[in-house]
Amino acid sequence: MNTYEKGWIAFGVLITAVFLAVVGYFGFSAGLQPPQKVEVIDPTKLASDPRFSKPRIEEIVPGEEYNVYLVSRMWTFIPNQITVPKDARINFYITSPDVVHGFHIVGTSVQTMVIPGYITVISARFSEPGEYWIICNEYCGQGHHMMKAKLIVKEV
Ligand code: CUA
Repeated sequence: MNTYEKGWIAFGVLITAVFLAVVGYFGFSAGLQPPQKVEVIDPTKLASDPRFSKPRIEEIVPGEEYNVYLVSRMWTFIPNQITVPKDARINFYITSPDVVHGFHIVGTSVQTMVIPGYITVISARFSEPGEYWIICNEYCGQGHHMMKAKLIVKEV
């Protein structure tokens, strides 16, 4: 092997090490974690599952924490209107009985996929009172463009 080849091999190893170090550093410093556990559910049995038989907003700590159990289905969200106080922690538990849907709260960073057979969990706080559209942003059939709901963030 000549010196020129050795030089390039060393360069390749070095650049790989730098790449891993940078990704590792930012990953650890930002506290990134893979999902802890994946919650599954039988999409044909939502009606008899206590979590989703009555989609609802549950008050955990008044004014501070709420759980929202939401079903995304062709072509609506149940419940269709969600009212929460501002600055409270809102934990959304979302599932679908039919196909893949999207869940995006317009004007916020809340955006996720909803997949039949799984429970999507996403938490957020809303500091700006007002009305926000919740839309589906995964194509899910002919009524996709009409699939929306409303989030109302109240001043406390
Ligand atoms: Cu649901 Cu598009």
